[in-house]
Amino acid sequence: MSPKIVSLIYVGLILSVFTAVLSCEIQEDRSSMKEISFPRLVLGPEGSDPATIGYQLNHAILNVRNLTRSLDFYNHIFGMRHMYTVQITEHFYTAYMGHSSGGRNGTGHQTTDELIRNQANSQGLLELLYVDIEDNFDISPSTDVSNTFSHLGFIVPDINEAQLRLELSNVSIYKRVGEPFPADGPVINAGVLNRSRFSQEEFDSIIVGMTESTKGYILAADPDGNMLEIVPQSGPNAV
Ligand SMILES: *[C@@H]1O[C@H](CO)[C@@H](O)[C@H](O)[C@H]1NC(C)=O
Ligand SMILES: *[C@@H]1O[C@H](CO)[C@@H](O)[C@H](O)[C@H]1NC(C)=O
Ligand SMILES: *[C@@H]1O[C@H](CO)[C@@H](O)[C@H](O)[C@H]1NC(C)=O
Ligand SMILES: *[C@@H]1O[C@H](CO)[C@@H](O)[C@H](O)[C@H]1NC(C)=O
Repeated sequence: MSPKIVSLIYVGLILSVFTAVLSCEIQEDRSSMKEISFPRLVLGPEGSDPATIGYQLNHAILNVRNLTRSLDFYNHIFGMRHMYTVQITEHFYTAYMGHSSGGRNGTGHQTTDELIRNQANSQGLLELLYVDIEDNFDISPSTDVSNTFSHLGFIVPDINEAQLRLELSNVSIYKRVGEPFPADGPVINAGVLNRSRFSQEEFDSIIVGMTESTKGYILAADPDGNMLEIVPQSGPNAV
């Protein structure tokens, strides 16, 4: 197989293992596993309902335990800009962050006003919800208790520089570039991959497949323990 096909297969594997491990299709595959070899790649159909032209995924939201800490983290580590915070009531806050892009003078700089003006035309924004009441400090991230949220993914131009940046900032790193995919702990929880759900043989195959497909990636944690997947923009392990 050509390297391109192999890398496509690994991309397919990540998508299927991380986002659709419980889907009916995979359940069905288990019953007819004898005839199918894994990993297998299934391409999606072409096209979408023309009535949805202009729809786009604009933002993802994290419930945070300390708003200042999360704003500092995503700004310092990933360069996301704090666009604004709205304090809706005494205890309830919502904040928006985004990467600046373009800018009319080619420096990549946009003023905060410009970022806000482009909010409805942007992709990859992060909204942070914060309830300033002590109960809120108990909310569990998916790295503690498996739930429907797995992780946020970032693309970086230089993965080794990004890793150094995380290390110098004391960010918790679950997996460094070139290390095997962890077989237990936070990463397994965030992927709904609790080994008790699989046969030993299937679990081992998942770890082998994920080690191969995430070889060039970093897996780390934000201050609340939300998993972050950091992927190189180009090179052998790029998406
Ligand atoms: C929230 O985070 C900020 C910045 O890291 C820190 O100074 C502050 O003490 C934290 N607040 C609480 C209640 O832990
Ligand atoms: C580019 O434009 C931004 C405002 O959009 C300004 O703050 C910045 O100084 C400009 N940079 C240069 C090199 O002109
Ligand atoms: C990281 O941890 C080391 C050792 O505990 C400490 O000296 C350093 O100041 C920390 N750096 C940051 C950016 O927090
Ligand atoms: C993994 O599965 C075992 C057995 O069902 C369960 O006791 C444990 O809590 C699960 N771990 C997580 C993090 O969900």
